[in-house]
Amino acid sequence: MLRIIETRDYNDMSRKAANIISAQIILKNDSVIGLATGSTPLGIYATLIHWCKKGDLDFSKVKTVNLDEYCGLPKEHAQSYYYFMQENLFKHINIDPGNTYIPNGMNLNRKEECEKYHKMIEQTGGIDLQLLGIGNNGHIGFNEPDDQFANYTHCVELTQSTIEANSRFFDSKEMVPKQAYTMGIGEIMSAKQILIVASGKGKAKVIKEMIEGPVSPKLPASILKFHHNVTLIADQEALSLLDQEYLK
Ligand code: GLP
Repeated sequence: MLRIIETRDYNDMSRKAANIISAQIILKNDSVIGLATGSTPLGIYATLIHWCKKGDLDFSKVKTVNLDEYCGLPKEHAQSYYYFMQENLFKHINIDPGNTYIPNGMNLNRKEECEKYHKMIEQTGGIDLQLLGIGNNGHIGFNEPDDQFANYTHCVELTQSTIEANSRFFDSKEMVPKQAYTMGIGEIMSAKQILIVASGKGKAKVIKEMIEGPVSPKLPASILKFHHNVTLIADQEALSLLDQEYLK
């Protein structure tokens, strides 16, 4: 079941999403939380940091598994997702670094890295809550539009549109890695609860297609409609093209 929560703006979206993640951790202090990168979750992370610093939220037993990582970027590279997570969340909260998992982009043995990550997810006992953003082309994690859904963690060739969208974080388009490790759709769909966030006019078209269109690997996020517990939290701009029927 997919429920849609419309928020006034980005801050409202961030607070509501942070509230749901926070409730999950309060109810189960050793929750396994799937985390996402990108600009959209930044406000959520800032809110969680604030609540943790106030003493309202305790990450000491929480485990996190990240969706994806660029291939070939070392951990200390400012655009690696490892670095992103340290800077924007982990170093500010009381999480045990040994409980945070991100694919190792520097492992060139793809098969080994993918199998290792898949096993690690299984060994956590399963993801309690998976946070997702959405790419302009409908990707979740780095599951790009394709002819089929990939089940497990795999290495993907990034599409031109993703390379262009993400080039804003790099000095030039040429600097954007061409490949990435990503959790597969099967692993994402195995999460007990999914929270997908979207903000701004730039996401309005893909959100409309995701909700109103068919379930298809051509728009990977559309599969979420088959999940039993998924919540889309999006601001008015991101929902501005959606048929109002869906918001009743
Ligand atoms: C990136 C990440 C995704 C993220 C998406 C949207 O490529 N791999 O996990 O959801 O792009 O990013 P943003 O939130 O900046 O729009």
